Amino acid sequence: MARLWLTFGILTPFFALFIVQQTSLAENYWPWFLATHPDSSQASRQRSGGVGHGPSLIQEQEQELGQGNQKPLQAPGPPVADRHASNVEGNLPETAFVRRIVAVGDLHGDFGNARKVLEMSGVIGAEGEWTGLVDFFVQTGDIIDRGDDTVELFSYMDKLRDQALAAGGMVLSHLGNHEWMNVIGECWRYVYPSEIKTFGSVEARGRMITSGQIGKSWATNYTTTSRLPLHPSLGPPNADYDPSFSSPISHSALSFVHGGLAPTYPDLTPYPSKINEIASSLLRKLQTRKFPLVHPPNPYPGLPKTATKEENRLYGGDGPLWYRGWALDEDEGVKGGLCDRADAVMEKIGVRRLIVGHTPDFEKIVSRCGGKIIIIDTGISHAYGGVLSALSITYSLTPLPPTEGGEARWKERETVVAVYPDRQDILADDAREITGEL
Ligand SMILES: *[C@@H]1O[C@H](CO)[C@@H](O)[C@H](O)[C@H]1NC(C)=O
Repeated sequence: MARLWLTFGILTPFFALFIVQQTSLAENYWPWFLATHPDSSQASRQRSGGVGHGPSLIQEQEQELGQGNQKPLQAPGPPVADRHASNVEGNLPETAFVRRIVAVGDLHGDFGNARKVLEMSGVIGAEGEWTGLVDFFVQTGDIIDRGDDTVELFSYMDKLRDQALAAGGMVLSHLGNHEWMNVIGECWRYVYPSEIKTFGSVEARGRMITSGQIGKSWATNYTTTSRLPLHPSLGPPNADYDPSFSSPISHSALSFVHGGLAPTYPDLTPYPSKINEIASSLLRKLQTRKFPLVHPPNPYPGLPKTATKEENRLYGGDGPLWYRGWALDEDEGVKGGLCDRADAVMEKIGVRRLIVGHTPDFEKIVSRCGGKIIIIDTGISHAYGGVLSALSITYSLTPLPPTEGGEARWKERETVVAVYPDRQDILADDAREITGEL
């Protein structure tokens, strides 16, 4: 056994070097772990048999990485018992309002690791049941592909959704570019025969994601983006941001989407309904057309002929499913750069953070611009062998004694924590005082 590990340990760097060399020698550098938009030059290269990857090596790595130490059930952030306790300033603390959110990125067919991240972040217990410790669980898409547990994962998400609702919580699910690729009929290069077997056949798989339970669930209970208000005075999840609504906490909300909301994307507002309506319409067209023949080897089917300009743009390179600017743009510290663009988008859509998946960092959840941009894809699936992670956000609003003029006063606080099996990193802990009626 020890010898096996030793051999593995010696060989791993060589494999890593080999992969790096292969990819960097490639004409247009594009790491193997990033899926490519069908219109891009990388995509055509991959379609014609270019860059590939070896799941078996990655799977071996997973066996080494995946055994996170089990921790007792405990939600990150302030201990639950203290959440309504009277330890904050002032003496009206019983009415403190607390909302807890956990968000998880790309899961790619790995049920075991999905369970682990949900458990370590307090969303579920050891039996996989909704604990009620968290108010909202958000998943940012790409549940399908690269692993075998597609059916199991989607049906588990449906079960969790029901349990959450029954307990007064909510599951917010999103479609990633991989869900879309599959319903378009492309992307079979990320699907393994062992996964297709779980559906029975390629045809059965096609039926399942269109007219079958998975397809119905996508059409009913999945959106492409979400606006999640942190306080009920801003309305329920996915209520549109109304720029004419004036409140000291008008932007106390989070945006979730798989790829990103590009500054150049024309259909950002009304947010989030505009994007979600375009997406629903496109999904309906895709799910009701004759399901295309498998690509490859058959030609790329593309979007339906009846798809509108907006629907094409939704699935475009700067559309919400594919955009990678928030993760890859390099002008973070520059005036007029990344953070200013994020501010402009957030001002427009009424949120305070842009939370996305899609572009993995295998070591950590990436926080940019002081937590305004958070990228939560850490390659959780064994297909990548990245670190297990979840993002935990605790929002609280605590009444303070009124101003001398009798105006209501509050302390608003948002603690953003990256949760890993062996540690928690605070990404942001922002507090502000608010005056006025909510
Ligand atoms: C959507 O979610 C609701 C609430 O959990 C559930 O009752 C319903 O069956 C789901 N719809 C589909 C098509 O899965």
